[in-house]
Amino acid sequence: MDRDTIIEPFRIKSVEPIRMTDRAERERLIREANYNLFNLHADDVIIDLLTDSGTSAMSAAQWAGLMQGDESYAGSPSYFRFEEAVKDLMPFEHIIPTHQGRAAERILMGIVADPDAKIPSNTHFDTTRANIESTGAEAVDLVIEEGLDPDLEHPFKGNIDLDRLETLLEDEGENVPIVMLTITNNSGGGQPVSLENIRGAAALCEEHDVPFILDACRFAENAYFIKQREDGYGDHSVKEIVREIFSHADGMTMSAKKDALVNIGGWLALDDDDWAREARNQLILTEGFPTYGGLAGRDLEAIAVGLQEIVDEDYLEYRMASTRYLGEALTDLGVPIVTPVGGHAVYVNAKALLPHIPPLEYPGQALAVALYTTGGIRGVEIGSVMFGQQPDGSEEPARMELVRLAIPRRVYTQSHVDYVIECFEEVYDRREELTGFEITEEPPQLRHFTAHFQPLEPDAVHRETSVPEEVARAS
Ligand code: F0G
Repeated sequence: MDRDTIIEPFRIKSVEPIRMTDRAERERLIREANYNLFNLHADDVIIDLLTDSGTSAMSAAQWAGLMQGDESYAGSPSYFRFEEAVKDLMPFEHIIPTHQGRAAERILMGIVADPDAKIPSNTHFDTTRANIESTGAEAVDLVIEEGLDPDLEHPFKGNIDLDRLETLLEDEGENVPIVMLTITNNSGGGQPVSLENIRGAAALCEEHDVPFILDACRFAENAYFIKQREDGYGDHSVKEIVREIFSHADGMTMSAKKDALVNIGGWLALDDDDWAREARNQLILTEGFPTYGGLAGRDLEAIAVGLQEIVDEDYLEYRMASTRYLGEALTDLGVPIVTPVGGHAVYVNAKALLPHIPPLEYPGQALAVALYTTGGIRGVEIGSVMFGQQPDGSEEPARMELVRLAIPRRVYTQSHVDYVIECFEEVYDRREELTGFEITEEPPQLRHFTAHFQPLEPDAVHRETSVPEEVARAS
């Protein structure tokens, strides 16, 4: 019998206490953190939605797996169990463990990129972009138009624009060493990519003889969206869909901190023997011997078990339902969000919620700080604080002003989410009182991690548009 309530398909065996704080205490703590949520002690956060990366709760089977960890420097059986678990889903020739996703990216870019290279993707995640740019190469984002509109409904807003990809390959194919695709498209709102689009990109790559590499951090969530939304896949198991996805690629980079349900780890997988040889040589320089990468044997065991658990469809149903639950409740309150809701996070459109705060007074930061002072909730600004700083020191508004509420896997229950929704209601009611921020101190790049902020006085704030009208339009 179908029921409306989708339960967490697990019981809780081990708990971590949450330290409760009150508003006055949080106002002091955020002031002392210079209004930068990265500066807070995590103990002072009640619900931490900063990231879904490395924050998963491990299962009893994973904890048991840790005890099987073999810490031999070379040839550890844990490596072979890890390799087998990866190949069960992603049948690549060479599986090279790394300490996390960006290490795999750095090694790959060190092999394929040079200052003439252009590397396209739907949207490169910021560490991928930085690893490409650090070689002098250019990172090119080619997500479909629909993926750039926060309000538009489209089942696969993470798709790459195949026409623009074809043009790039035809005009400058000799400078394109690889084509990438991020599944799901994190920087574009956690939106999935369809199998049709994956097949299309793979066919173009084959035609132009360019290897096709997936940034596959959230592959299981992407596969579940395909099962739910793509014609012809409703009857396929998620595991079959996962295998089909990877059958079209020549390699992958992976952050195991997402869809391998562990707190640390990653890998680079490749079919090409020469690239794999070079990658392993690089790995030895900076990560470790090829049977452990930057990891302990026990970490490899936890990944091997996590990969079996992540394709469980009861888990994925609950995972998607819990993210959607938060997104739909915020929409019901009138809070504008990026739609449809992605797999791992809800992205709130702070520009539409706080139209009286101009982009360079950081509406996303204002909302993130208000969520913390109201309920001890930590999200992350993805807007002009994160992307506004230009290499020449000037400042430009970002395309969107968002606050990402990322949901750690298997960590919070529905009442935690209900609490978040209640706090949002309070923030929504007070939205016209929120003021912008100025940056009083910042490093030359990646300023969002360490910048200091100061709230602007209400009388310094531009009040250009009336809030209700703007919000009504956006929601
Ligand atoms: N690719 C994507 C799509 C990611 O989301 C991340 C990390 C990485 C690569 C890098 O992996 O952190 O293991 O080095 N995303 C995290 C986040 C940090 O919060 O979205 P890593």
